[in-house]
Amino acid sequence: MKFYLPLTAIIALVLVLGFKFLQQEKIPVETTMQRVEQQLKAMAQANTDVTRYPRSTNKDGSLATVTSDDWTSGFFPGSLWYMYDYTKDRNWEKMARNWTAGLAKEQFNKTTHDLGFMLYCSFGNGYRLTRDPAYRDILIEGAKSLMSRFDERTGAIRSWDFNKEVWQFPVIIDNMMNLEMLYWASKETGDPIYAAVATQHAITTLNNHFRPDFSSYHVIDYDTVSGKARIKQTHQGYADASAWARGQAWGLYGFTVAYRETKDERFLKHAQGIAEFFINHKNMPSDKVPYWDFDAPSRPDLPRDASAAAIAASGLLELSGYSGAKGEAYKSAATQMLSTLATPAYLAKPKSNNNFVLMHCTGHMPNNSEVDVPLNYADYYFIEGMLRLERMNKGLKPTYN
Ligand code: GLY
Repeated sequence: MKFYLPLTAIIALVLVLGFKFLQQEKIPVETTMQRVEQQLKAMAQANTDVTRYPRSTNKDGSLATVTSDDWTSGFFPGSLWYMYDYTKDRNWEKMARNWTAGLAKEQFNKTTHDLGFMLYCSFGNGYRLTRDPAYRDILIEGAKSLMSRFDERTGAIRSWDFNKEVWQFPVIIDNMMNLEMLYWASKETGDPIYAAVATQHAITTLNNHFRPDFSSYHVIDYDTVSGKARIKQTHQGYADASAWARGQAWGLYGFTVAYRETKDERFLKHAQGIAEFFINHKNMPSDKVPYWDFDAPSRPDLPRDASAAAIAASGLLELSGYSGAKGEAYKSAATQMLSTLATPAYLAKPKSNNNFVLMHCTGHMPNNSEVDVPLNYADYYFIEGMLRLERMNKGLKPTYN
C-alpha cells in the first residue's frame, strides 16, 4: 500500500504534465507564423498603393480594399507591426511604417467610434514597439476625437451617425473594443478623463446590452433626453434577440481589457460570463469555430465566422491570466480555436485567398455581404492570438499595449 500510493500519484502527475505538454504543442506556432509571413509579404508586394488597405474579397473574387476612413483600415498595418514584434526584422518595421502613415489624418475624424480599431491597432502597436513621439501625438489626438462622441446623459460613446430617422443615440457592442485607446491615453498623459469615460461606457454597456445568459444585443439605441435604452436590436446578427458570434467575441475581449485597466470585479465576472457562454454554447461546433450567429437556424452549409473565433481566442488567452482555476479552461478553449484556425480548413495555402491568412469569415450576413470570405481583422486577431500563446507558453504575459 505504502508503495502503491506514491506510484499512483507519480503516474497521475506524469499524465497531467503529458496532457499539458501536448496541449501546448498542439499548435505549430513557428510553421503557422511562417505561413502568416508569406501571406503578408505577398499582400504588401502585390499592393503598392499604401493608401488602399486590403480588407476582404469581393464577390467576383478580386481583392477588396478600403480607404483610411474605413473601420478596418488599421488591421493590415497592425498585422505588419505584429510581424515586426515577432521577428524584430527592420524590414517589417519599414513596411509597417509605410502602411501606417496614411492613417494619420483619421486622428481628427469625429464621425466614427472606430478610432480604436483604426489607430490603436496601427499607431498603438507602432508606438509600443518604437516609442516614436509622433505616433504618441496622433494617438492622443485620436483619443480626444473619440471622446467627442461621449454623452453624459446616456453615459456612452455614440457608435453610428447613420439611420437618424430611427436611432437617437445608437451604441453597438463592438464599441467596447475602442476603449483600450482611451485607457492608454490616461496612462500616457496622466489625465484620468479618458479612462473615466471608457469605464462609464463599459458600465452602461454592461447594464443595457446583455441578457441574463450573457448573450448580447448588437445595437442599443438610447433616448438622448432621458438617457435610457429605448430600442434593443440587431444590425449584423440573425435576430434582435440572437447572439451574433462576433458581437459575443467583441464583448468578451472588451470586458477583459476593461478589467485589466480598472481591476473592477464586475468587468471580470462579465468577461467570464461571456467566455463561458461562447465556449459552452450548445450550437458551438466541436472544432470551436462558431457559426456566424449562435442562434442562426441550422443548415448544412451554415457559414462559420473565423474572425469571431480569432477575436475570442485572443481575448480568452488574456482572460485566462486573470481567472485563477477557471483560467485553464479558457486557455484550453483558446488553444483549440487557434489550432483549428491553423489547419488547412482555415489557413490559406501560400499565395491563395488574395494573400489573406484565414478563410471562412462572415462580415455582414443580413446584407449578404462578406459571407465566407477572408477578413483583415480575422488575420489581425489570429496573429495576436498566436503571439500571445507563444509568450504564455514561455511563461510571459500575453502581448498587449
Ligand atoms: N465592427 C463591425 C463588425 O464587427 O462587423
